[in-house]
Amino acid sequence: MQTKIEDHLPANRAVITGHGSFVPAKILTNDDLSHMVDTSDEWIVTRTGIKVRHITTDKESTAHLATEAAKRALERAKLSAEELELIIVATITPEMVFPSTACFVQQALGAKKAWGFDIAAACSGFVYSLHIVQQFMENGRLNNALVIGAESLTKITNWKERTSCILFGDGAGAVVLQRKQNAGRGILFSTLGADGTYWESLCCRAYGSRHPVSRPLEDPEMVYMQIKGREVYQQAVRRIVEAVTECMTRCNLTLDDIKMVISHQMNARIIESAAKRLNLPDEKVFINIQDYGNTSAASVPIAFDECMRQGKLKKGDIVILVAFGAGVTWGANVIEM
Ligand SMILES: CC(C)(COP(=O)(O)OP(=O)(O)OC[C@H]1O[C@@H](n2cnc3c(N)ncnc32)[C@H](O)[C@@H]1OP(=O)(O)O)[C@@H](O)C(=O)NCCC(=O)NCCS
Repeated sequence: MQTKIEDHLPANRAVITGHGSFVPAKILTNDDLSHMVDTSDEWIVTRTGIKVRHITTDKESTAHLATEAAKRALERAKLSAEELELIIVATITPEMVFPSTACFVQQALGAKKAWGFDIAAACSGFVYSLHIVQQFMENGRLNNALVIGAESLTKITNWKERTSCILFGDGAGAVVLQRKQNAGRGILFSTLGADGTYWESLCCRAYGSRHPVSRPLEDPEMVYMQIKGREVYQQAVRRIVEAVTECMTRCNLTLDDIKMVISHQMNARIIESAAKRLNLPDEKVFINIQDYGNTSAASVPIAFDECMRQGKLKKGDIVILVAFGAGVTWGANVIEM
């Protein structure tokens, strides 16, 4: 399909040529949770849409999930790890404080020619990363890149706090991006935002430089994710609607032009309420939160991979990826497949 902004785009474009995802085998059901805190399957499904989530064992960590997802994406792209020039890992649950998770992935894949770094934009990390790759490819400085969203959120989950522990899961999703000239497809447009005044809506206070591991914590719960659910809910709906509307305006797209909107999976009710405000019909909104919970930066690429594997997107289709998360941060990418 010839998009309406095609004429204004550079010849060099960032095209997704491979996708993959990986989640730990261990599953935690709502019934399992009802034995841990005062909750029920009925409450969780009604309020969030989540049925099960995958959780890492003590032997699994973020770099492991990221590497497995990356291998699947490389295989689909028919690209060898040696051909990669850049690896970005979007994560807020990195392998260590440093070095970056990207370096662990680079080593595990044997991607000897790639440089790499992590992005800490929480649930918006994958969408942020695609925009970064888009810039390098459009200016001709990068040919082959790997972008991964990977999280082990259940390692910083407070299993005694029922409002938050029901929400999160672990996993990773990855895409391979390649610079193509005059391909007539690829990332068309990205919009990103942040508002640090809301940092307390969603945060994990320990163990950064403000509350270092070397000193006793004034509150032991600081090691866990803390969320102000209601505040996040309202902000998320607003920012998703704004980001998708901006994508449509800037790319001159109507609802008919859009094949699918793939949102960060934070709560099915948030996604549905944003979709309603955008007048998006159900078949144009991809939801898979029931099987994974909220996997933060991994959520959009896991959903994208699943959407592709279900054959819901074909060449020429327009898809909008959109996310909102801690920071607070938000963003969206318009992609012509
Ligand atoms: C967390 C979230 C599911 C809570 O749903 P909600 O409809 O806003 O529910 P509330 O927080 O208003 O709580 C309603 C009641 O349910 C109770 N409740 C909270 N968690 C519960 C649980 N797991 N099981 C049963 N009851 C629960 C509350 O204690 C409260 O009881 P009260 O009325 O007696 O005080 C929802 O706000 C949400 O999804 N927010 C965004 C999630 C998020 O932050 N994602 C990460 C960033 S993208």
